[in-house]
Amino acid sequence: MEYKETIYKTPVKHGLVNYEKTYKNFNWDDINRCFDHFSDDGVNIAHEAIDRHAENGCKDKIAMYWEDEDNVEKRFSFSDIKRQSSKLANVLRNLGVEKGDRVFLFLPRTHELYVSIIAIAKLGAIAGPMFSAFGPEAVKDRLHDSEATVLITTPELSQRIDEIKEELPALKHTILVNAEKNLDEDEHSYESETNKASESFKIRWVDPEDDLFVLYTSGTTGKPKGVTHVHNDMISHYITTKWALDLRDDDVYWCTADPGWVTGTVYGIWGPWLNKVSQVVYNGRYDADKWYSIIEKYKVTVWYTAPTALRMLMKAGNEIIKKYDLSSLRYICSVGEPLNPEVIKWGLQVYNLPIHDNWWQTETGSIMIANFPSLPIKPGSMGKPFPGISAKIINSKGKVLAPGKHGLLGLKSGWPSMLRKVWANEEKYNEYFKISGWYTTGDTAYMDNDGYFWFVGRADDVINTAGHRVGPFEVESALVEHKAIAEAGVIGIPDTERSEIIKAFIVLNRGYKPSPTLKKEIQGFIKKRLAAHAYPREIEFTKDVPKTRSGKIMRRLLKARELGLPTGDLSTLEE
Ligand code: PRX
Repeated sequence: MEYKETIYKTPVKHGLVNYEKTYKNFNWDDINRCFDHFSDDGVNIAHEAIDRHAENGCKDKIAMYWEDEDNVEKRFSFSDIKRQSSKLANVLRNLGVEKGDRVFLFLPRTHELYVSIIAIAKLGAIAGPMFSAFGPEAVKDRLHDSEATVLITTPELSQRIDEIKEELPALKHTILVNAEKNLDEDEHSYESETNKASESFKIRWVDPEDDLFVLYTSGTTGKPKGVTHVHNDMISHYITTKWALDLRDDDVYWCTADPGWVTGTVYGIWGPWLNKVSQVVYNGRYDADKWYSIIEKYKVTVWYTAPTALRMLMKAGNEIIKKYDLSSLRYICSVGEPLNPEVIKWGLQVYNLPIHDNWWQTETGSIMIANFPSLPIKPGSMGKPFPGISAKIINSKGKVLAPGKHGLLGLKSGWPSMLRKVWANEEKYNEYFKISGWYTTGDTAYMDNDGYFWFVGRADDVINTAGHRVGPFEVESALVEHKAIAEAGVIGIPDTERSEIIKAFIVLNRGYKPSPTLKKEIQGFIKKRLAAHAYPREIEFTKDVPKTRSGKIMRRLLKARELGLPTGDLSTLEE
C-alpha cells in the first residue's frame, strides 16, 4: 500500500540542499576533484581515507571510538590508524603479499579488522572481509574461490579453519590477533609482527580500476559470488556518505553493520573516513541498553542501522529510552530490508526524528536510492535515485514502465562503485547485464508519480533474513550433508521482525524419523557448518520436495503452497 501522507521535512542547510537541481546538474567528474590523488602514478583509497587527513592537520582527530561487550574502550586518531596500517602493510609485504593478492579477514569487529582493511589497500592488495558468524563451509567457499594467500583471524575463529586448511592450497599464511598459543610454521602473531615493523610505508599507487575488495554474496543458484570492487569506488563512497547519510566534519557517526557485509565495509569504513568523520565501532551483539548507552556516551549524531534492529528496539519498548540521553542524535538512516511505516512513525515519536530508508546492494557498492534530508519522506518508500544514478522500472525486455506499474528495478550501468567483476566467474557477472544497457538488481519495485521508489520483493529466490542475504541453494547443500537428510528445499517466509525467516522442507533418509530433537540437531548443524544466521528457523519434514524434470527444486511452488498463493505454471513439474 502506498502511503500518500508525507510526514517529515526538515530545513536543510548543509549537504544536499536542493535535490532536483543537484540531480539535474550532477557530474561524477566534479566529485572526483574532491580528492587529493597525490601521485601522478595513480590513486589509493587508503591515502584519501586516512593518510591525507593524518598529514593535513587532522592527525589528532579521532577516527574511531572503539568499544567491546566487556566495556573495553579504545580511541584511535587518524594518525594512529595511519601508523598501525603502515606497520601491518610492512608485515604483509614481508610475507610476500603483492598488489592484486587476496588477503582475507575472519575477525569480529576488533580494531585490528579496521586497521587491516586500510593496510591491505595500502599495498594495492584485495581485502576479503568475512562475517565472524560464518562456519567452515562458508569460509572454505570464499577462501577457495578467491585463492586467498593470507588470512587474518583470531585463535578462536581459526579453529573453524583447521579442518578445511588442507583444501586450501593457496593459503600460505595465517596472522593471529591475540594469539596466546604456540604458533605453527604458517602462523604469525599480529602483535609481535606489527610491533617489530616500521611505521613508514610508501603507499602503492594503483590504477583507479584496480581491485580493492571482494565481498561474497548469495544468488539463487550456486556458491556465493565474489562481488569485486575497485579503488574508484571512493567517488561514490565519499559523496553518498555526504549526501545520503548527511555526514559532516563534526559528526560522530555510528554504523551498526559488520564489515563482513557490504554496509559495514562501505559505510563503516570507507565512507565516513573519506569524509574525515569520527566514527564509533561497537564490537558486540545487539542489546538495547548497550546500544542506547553507546549513543549517549559518544554523543552519536548520525546513526545508520537496519530495520530488524529498529524493530527489536521498538519491541524493547519506550521506557528504556527514557533512561538515556539521546539528544545528540540528529539523523537516522536504515538499509537492508523493507522499513515498515510503523517503525518510522515510532521513530518520530521516541527519537523525535524520522528514519531515512535507503536502498542499495553489495553489487552497487553505494547507496542508489535514498530518502534525502531535503526531501519529504513517504513512509514505506525507499526514496529517490541518488544524483548520477538513473533508476527505472523496466520489463524483461528493458522497456521502461510507467509510474505505478510493478516491474524489475533496473539501473543504467556505469556509476563509479558498480561491481567490476564476479571473482573468477564472468558468466555470473554477465547475468547482471542480460537486459541490454541495464544493470538488473533482482528486485521488483514500482515508482510513484512523484518519482519515489517502492520495494515490492525479489524477482528470484534469494532470502533476506534480518538484512542478511542468504542463498537457498547454499542452505540446501549444507542440509543434505547431514546424515539424516536425503533432500531439502529452502524458501524464505514472511516474518514481522526479520523480514523473512528461512524455512526448510526436508525429506529424511530411510531409518530416520521426524522429531523435535532431530529438528534441533539439524538447526545446530547448519549454524555450525554454514553460518549462525543462515539456519532454518522452521523445518517441515515431508515425503518429497517438488522438482522440475531436470531435477531443480521448485522453490516457487513450495512458497506458493506455504503462503496459499496460486501455484502458476506446473508444466515442468516432475511426475
Ligand atoms: O532485496 C534488496 C534488499 O537487500 C538486497 C541487497 O542485499 P545486500 O547485497 O546484502 O546489501 C544489503 C545492504 C546494502 C536488495 O537487493 N534491500 C536493501 N535495501 C533495502 C532492501 N529491501 C527493501 N528496502 C531497502 N531499503
